[in-house]
Amino acid sequence: MGLKQIDFGTPEYQQMIELRRQILRTPLGLSFTEQELQQEKDEILIAAFDDDEMLGCCVLCKLDESRIRLRQMAVQQDMQLRGIGASIMSFAENLARDKGFRYMIMHSRNTAIGFYEKLGYKVNGDEFIEVGISHYVMEKELV
Ligand SMILES: CC(C)(COP(=O)(O)OP(=O)(O)OC[C@H]1O[C@@H](n2cnc3c(N)ncnc32)[C@H](O)[C@@H]1OP(=O)(O)O)[C@@H](O)C(=O)NCCC(=O)NCCS
Repeated sequence: MGLKQIDFGTPEYQQMIELRRQILRTPLGLSFTEQELQQEKDEILIAAFDDDEMLGCCVLCKLDESRIRLRQMAVQQDMQLRGIGASIMSFAENLARDKGFRYMIMHSRNTAIGFYEKLGYKVNGDEFIEVGISHYVMEKELV
């Protein structure tokens, strides 16, 4: 498996949208708006590949000088629980650290809290609803 940054608007980006749609949006009866996707041209797009097949992905967006937010974390359904998500997180954290960010933040689905906790993240604040389901802010200092 290889991990790399991909570029907005490329065939790899289309692959990423398809994976995210399948894992994160279709199960909720949702899709992406053009406006939502356009914002991603300034964000950091990360994907894990096995040859040409995309196994998982995430997106990083700058919040301010010290904080970066991880979004759209997804691993192919039949490849989950094999360490791919943890590898993507480690790649994303190293990249964020190299760029000088001190804190990684995410809006975690209730069902994914255990995954981020294993990687040292802590819940900060109360439950809120996003894309129609329960979420919590989680964060970690990138030491
Ligand atoms: C959540 C997700 C990204 C995790 O990726 P993954 O490749 O399946 O996770 P890994 O195999 O790297 O798991 C790392 C550790 O976290 C644990 N873990 C994984 N998913 C978990 C979950 N949902 N709840 C609790 N623990 C979880 C694993 O058991 C493993 O533990 P171990 O180190 O003790 O063996 C993936 O399952 C996924 O895409 N889920 C659906 C979409 C989703 O919920 N995305 C997150 C939105 S906030």
